Amino acid sequence: MFLTTLLVCFLADFAFGDFYRTQPDFVRTCLKNDPGFINCSTHAVQVLFNKIPEGLPEIGLPPLDPLKLDRLTVLQGAGGPVTVNASLTNVTVRGFGKTEVQYNSVDPKTYDFLTKLHLDRLRLEGNYELLGRILVIPLRGKGNCWFDAKNISIVAKSDVKMTKREGFHFYNITGIHVDFDIQGLKLHMGNLFDGIKALEESTNAYLNANWKPVAESLNPILTKTVEDIMIGILRTVFDNLPADFFLADIED
Ligand SMILES: *[C@@H]1O[C@H](CO)[C@@H](O)[C@H](O)[C@H]1NC(C)=O
Ligand SMILES: *[C@@H]1O[C@H](CO)[C@@H](O)[C@H](O)[C@H]1NC(C)=O
Ligand SMILES: *[C@@H]1O[C@H](CO)[C@@H](O)[C@H](O)[C@H]1NC(C)=O
Ligand SMILES: *[C@@H]1O[C@H](CO)[C@@H](O)[C@H](O)[C@H]1NC(C)=O
Ligand SMILES: *[C@@H]1O[C@H](CO)[C@@H](O)[C@H](O)[C@H]1NC(C)=O
Repeated sequence: MFLTTLLVCFLADFAFGDFYRTQPDFVRTCLKNDPGFINCSTHAVQVLFNKIPEGLPEIGLPPLDPLKLDRLTVLQGAGGPVTVNASLTNVTVRGFGKTEVQYNSVDPKTYDFLTKLHLDRLRLEGNYELLGRILVIPLRGKGNCWFDAKNISIVAKSDVKMTKREGFHFYNITGIHVDFDIQGLKLHMGNLFDGIKALEESTNAYLNANWKPVAESLNPILTKTVEDIMIGILRTVFDNLPADFFLADIED
């Protein structure tokens, strides 16, 4: 059977600030009943995504580029091409500051979002501890690692419930479903096999030469990771930014 669990420990200490009662300059307003709505909301989400990576201390959102994660735990049981028990600590992810928003629509009835994003590059560095098998390779190690992904396309569907608080509407993000594709991956795991250098180097070389099946086999884990990170960020943003600032024609 296929078992995947993942723990993302960050954003846990978010201090809940008071929400924005006046419209900040990084929020653009659109009309969902306007024929140019998709273009308008695509630009509005781009303006928002240009701003949020700096962090929004007033609502307790830390900077997202670089994004710091204390700990990521991945446990995936036998059944697929990947069996891993891994943890990543002291993780730094760089690249979210240059997110290109290619498309954003909001369903006029359910308010669900459909968002298409593109990133030229995303680099993750941290300390890892790993026991498992990827493709046919048994892996065991503990040390520093980095992963460098190129040309990343993300399609995110967000489930939304419109709620009301103190006279304002808010998007309540109840779920997120991500599909993503990468066009290149380079990686390095130091101190594999307790630092037996020949084995460490040949294994890293093999994983890099076979980055495509490696990336495909890791896709379910990476998808879940991206979903958990995105939902944490989007919830913090939309719990504190009234939906009325984005959409001027919300019906009750
Ligand atoms: C799309 O929106 C942008 C920003 O609001 C605007 O400059 C541009 O003219 C719009 N394009 C079309 C085709 O409406
Ligand atoms: C995963 O690894 C951790 C740390 O090495 C260990 O405590 C845990 O029991 C392992 N879990 C499984 C299911 O192998
Ligand atoms: C955490 O990572 C940073 C670089 O991103 C490094 O300077 C620091 O020494 C690391 N800390 C630990 C405890 O490994
Ligand atoms: C990036 O990906 C897009 C869509 O998959 C593709 O059209 C484009 O050619 C790629 N660019 C590079 C530099 O690989
Ligand atoms: C969002 O919706 C969920 C599920 O209905 C609910 O439990 C939660 O309290 C809501 N959150 C906010 C901030 O309204």
